[in-house]
Amino acid sequence: MLYIGVDLGTSAVKLLLMDGEGRIHNIVSKEYPLYFPHPGWSEQKPEDWWNGVMEGLKELTADCDKSQIAGISFGGQMHGMVALDENDEVIRPAILWNDGRTQKQTDYLNQVIGKDKLSEYTANIAFAGFTAPKILWMKEEEPENFARTKMIMLPKDYIAFKLSGVYCTDVSDASGMLIFDVKNKCWSKEMLEICGITEEQVPKIFESYEAVGTILPEVAKELGFPETVKIVAGAGDNAAAAVGTGTVGDGMCNISLGTSGTIFVSSKNFGVDKNNALHAFAHADGHYHLMGCMLSAASCNKWWMDEIIGTKEYAAEQAKIEKLGENHVFFLPYLMGERSPHNNPNARGTFIGMTMDTTRADMTQAVLEGVAFAIRDSFEIAKSLGINIERTKICGGGAKSPLWKKIIANVLGIKVDVIESEEGPGYGGAMLAAVACGEFASVEEAAAKLVKVVDTVEPDPELVEKYNDRYAKFAKIYPTVKGLFDEVTI
Ligand code: XUL
Repeated sequence: MLYIGVDLGTSAVKLLLMDGEGRIHNIVSKEYPLYFPHPGWSEQKPEDWWNGVMEGLKELTADCDKSQIAGISFGGQMHGMVALDENDEVIRPAILWNDGRTQKQTDYLNQVIGKDKLSEYTANIAFAGFTAPKILWMKEEEPENFARTKMIMLPKDYIAFKLSGVYCTDVSDASGMLIFDVKNKCWSKEMLEICGITEEQVPKIFESYEAVGTILPEVAKELGFPETVKIVAGAGDNAAAAVGTGTVGDGMCNISLGTSGTIFVSSKNFGVDKNNALHAFAHADGHYHLMGCMLSAASCNKWWMDEIIGTKEYAAEQAKIEKLGENHVFFLPYLMGERSPHNNPNARGTFIGMTMDTTRADMTQAVLEGVAFAIRDSFEIAKSLGINIERTKICGGGAKSPLWKKIIANVLGIKVDVIESEEGPGYGGAMLAAVACGEFASVEEAAAKLVKVVDTVEPDPELVEKYNDRYAKFAKIYPTVKGLFDEVTI
């Protein structure tokens, strides 16, 4: 049988066709626009996602035996707010995970409702990108839209709804809304009330590997798919990527270098970081995970290459980098503010330390290293919780760079396992579909059978030492310039 994984990303939707042996038959990508209507705001049109998915599904399956298609599932950009009216029409553009407009509502939640209460209700505190502050923002700033809202959904759940007609979400993605009781895997009545919405306005919750229904007949007809195709709940993109890299069960780690950068630690048991600097979310394997998320990772390199230096030759630029661990330039990668661990939408990208002999390669290196150092910030928090991480998997666009993988291995001082398919969320999505269709008994079984490590990047003790010194300096920059960000940020 054939399974489709839909990775609904921020720059594009990537669709992947996989068989029951885990072989990838085809991958298709469709880009769509991202809107920044104000500095720090970030929006997309759900209609663009839907058009991209439908076009992508047609192209993906053009040459396959469509009668073999058994299931479709998802890895979706998390936290985005999609609001539907009573006719299931989209009310306003979706407000995305990296949108920083909700500082006031985030402060209200953390300071007036209080972090302790939020953590008790949801296992997390408020971050500007989470969904609850966005609901409050719409209530305050766009009362007419709020009054028209019949249903609030996450990005991938809108696609699942368009495909199946079912209002659904999964436990991993729901975890990032701040209206979900992560420990007990149900909506938090307290948080729904605080946001001024009811349980009728949020979708039904599924485990990530459960079918929510079958494809709508009219959609099946348009695509030429059998009407039996199962639509499977899927997961937030990080949980789906974790499935796709075999980061399931207890104590496994995955780093994603996508538009965002995340460090994800799987756990069989529910646990909360007492300072809530790491997110405590449900996992797509039926268990839990802790995660640190930086808002700009591979996107910092893309910005530096495309917008500033003006080149598409990423590998050629990186080939000019000669001395790892010895750069005098530092870069704070906060181009969209920062989530973990600083929780500061006003933080901004910053270069520091340049001299007249600074080269373009030094600056490029500083960007790659700055992202690795920011991931280490969350890694240090995980270590302080007693979590022992000796190796990690890696995925996302940035993971295609051998140099960046080497920097990550040495900045963190751990082994980086490279897997056969670095398609993270798309592959994980297809695996979740396969589990729901009975191809595998569990997500863990699917991961054990399908995910193969093909190489390991080992840290070099001398370089680790040098990077320890540089990280100690990096870690001093943000606290020193933090106060300035509030003044200079527009
Ligand atoms: C995770 C997060 C990002 C998005 C990116 O908390 O906000 O990783 O899911 O798509």
